[in-house]
Amino acid sequence: MPQKNKTLGEFIIENQEEFRYSSGELSRLINSIRLAAKVVNHEVNKAGLVDILGTAGDTNIQGEDQQKLDIYANNAFIRTLTNREIVCGIASEEEDDFITIKGRNEQHDNKYVVLIDPLDGSSNIDVNVSVGTIFSVYRRITPSGTPVTLEDFLQPGNKQVAAGYIIYGTSTMLVYSTGHGVNGFTLNPAIGTFYLSHPNMKFPKDGTIYSVNEGNYVHFPQGIKDYIKYCQEEEGDRPYTSRYIGSLVSDLHRNMIKGGIYIYPNTAKNPKGKLRLLYECNPMAFVIEQAGGMASDGFTKILDIKPTELHQRIPFICGSLNMVLKAKQFMQNV
Ligand code: AHG
Ligand code: MN
Ligand code: MN
Repeated sequence: MPQKNKTLGEFIIENQEEFRYSSGELSRLINSIRLAAKVVNHEVNKAGLVDILGTAGDTNIQGEDQQKLDIYANNAFIRTLTNREIVCGIASEEEDDFITIKGRNEQHDNKYVVLIDPLDGSSNIDVNVSVGTIFSVYRRITPSGTPVTLEDFLQPGNKQVAAGYIIYGTSTMLVYSTGHGVNGFTLNPAIGTFYLSHPNMKFPKDGTIYSVNEGNYVHFPQGIKDYIKYCQEEEGDRPYTSRYIGSLVSDLHRNMIKGGIYIYPNTAKNPKGKLRLLYECNPMAFVIEQAGGMASDGFTKILDIKPTELHQRIPFICGSLNMVLKAKQFMQNV
């Protein structure tokens, strides 16, 4: 069990040999995410003070309003991950296509691709509710020395070498996994240092919270409707409590600490679901499974799905193991 009170910097150095490919590059990559997290945290925290609120008057490829902070966070992460001779490509929810990054001497020999949702829950910015960042890291599969291709980004989630999220909440936390459990670090804003505050995080096997946007209820698949009715029935530890913030990062973070299930099913408006497989579901599924929870589209493990496109959407059911198993039963019994 990792010791509390150590800094993220110390933790990264001490655990470097646990990384699947321990050349130090993945450590440096996590370090650059740590830096970008602090930069974005600073900006998010002063959002109410300066003229930064509101939409930037542009839409992303998925037709959604881009918030100013979406763009700021996107640029901050791309800037920080570039020019460190580690990352050969970045795909972001806010970019139409992936970005190719050259390494030393203009060569295409960097190893890792990073996929990010730079600002998750951005509709919550204007109302001072927690937002987050989600990131996912893979080793490239095309040969070193050649430019990255789409194939490098369309790997199934079970090939991730690291994934995690940052939550800009009542305190700012970075929670991540490199495939050896999940650890959470809390930022001390006074000195700009992340400390290990939540070592070896575990998703409770059971829970009493269900998180779903019930405004869409009439458009849900029958299995999800039936499961929601089950959550609301009076029996044993039910009815469960309904908690829905509308920031995936915040809803999942709470459920991971308290025990619960998060559901974003396919609906009439979003027939394939709303959440993005590559930027949101895969990295969250990696963290959830590393913490002993489960993530599924109702039928298949999220991490086993072979992506077909960058901005692919997928129904997402995840959280406490026994709750997700139950929801899957309802899905599969219709
Ligand atoms: P993003 O801000 O990156 O576009 O993500 C928003 C996502 C997710 O964070 C959240 O759980 C979900 O959209 C909320 O959707 P609804 O408003 O449809 O419930
Ligand atoms: Mn998001
Ligand atoms: Mn986003």
